[in-house]
Amino acid sequence: MSDEESATKREQAQHVREMFAAIATRYDLLNHLLSGNVDQRWRRLVVKKMAMSLPATDARVLDVACGTGDLSLALVAGTRAQVIGLDFCRPMLDIAAGKSSERGFAIPYLEGDALKLPFRDQSFDGVTIAFGLRNLASFEGGLKELRRVLRPGGMLAVLEFSKPRMPILRSFFAVYFTKLLPLLGGLISGSKSAYEYLPDSVSRFPDQALLATLMKEVGFTEVAFQNLTGGIAALHTGKQPAL
Ligand SMILES: C[S@@+](CC[C@H](N)C(=O)[O-])C[C@H]1O[C@@H](n2cnc3c(N)ncnc32)[C@H](O)[C@@H]1O
Repeated sequence: MSDEESATKREQAQHVREMFAAIATRYDLLNHLLSGNVDQRWRRLVVKKMAMSLPATDARVLDVACGTGDLSLALVAGTRAQVIGLDFCRPMLDIAAGKSSERGFAIPYLEGDALKLPFRDQSFDGVTIAFGLRNLASFEGGLKELRRVLRPGGMLAVLEFSKPRMPILRSFFAVYFTKLLPLLGGLISGSKSAYEYLPDSVSRFPDQALLATLMKEVGFTEVAFQNLTGGIAALHTGKQPAL
């Protein structure tokens, strides 16, 4: 990568971090409100899939781009694994830490970059990333890094917005996402640009089939996906090949 390209990627990451810092205190409210709380149902499905793939004892799961920790909390409640949350935005992590101590969980929340995880190779039985991959400066680089920290046979679960399957749902969703959501999100969070960034980032993100292909290309096996709510979101899973 040229110096210019890496400077652009650094700037992009800095912009994303500042954007989430600016909306951190309103993030949960807006998430649940603007999705009609369906986001929590999607996260529970991630937990269910992950729980089925984890070893019965001493499992470790890394929740990357954990934000305010909703998935980390659901993983702790729904599996027996030790869960670690990681994000590069301190204000989001502060909220995550407050929520887990309120509920009596001791989840370690670490500040770090998904593109340069501070862990040794093959140190987790499961890795999750919910609504995070789309925000990374490199999707491919992110997937490679997530794969690096998975032990052989370990599973990655990617929850992301995707492409609605039915044309009518796609049209309705496009209007909601590009017009109504920036308006409501802007009013409630005070940052219209953050809620304009959301549809932009979704439109740049690979659809279901392309993401599955990308996962295979970086070396995941058993890659599969499930459409959620008509494909508004999708849950992709893939495994680190067994030795
Ligand atoms: C839309 S939020 C998702 C938060 C959470 N996973 C959820 O399900 O609500 C995206 C998160 O990705 C984080 N993020 C974006 N790029 C990152 C990176 N390179 N490294 C670590 N975290 C990153 C942001 O700080 C933000 O908290």
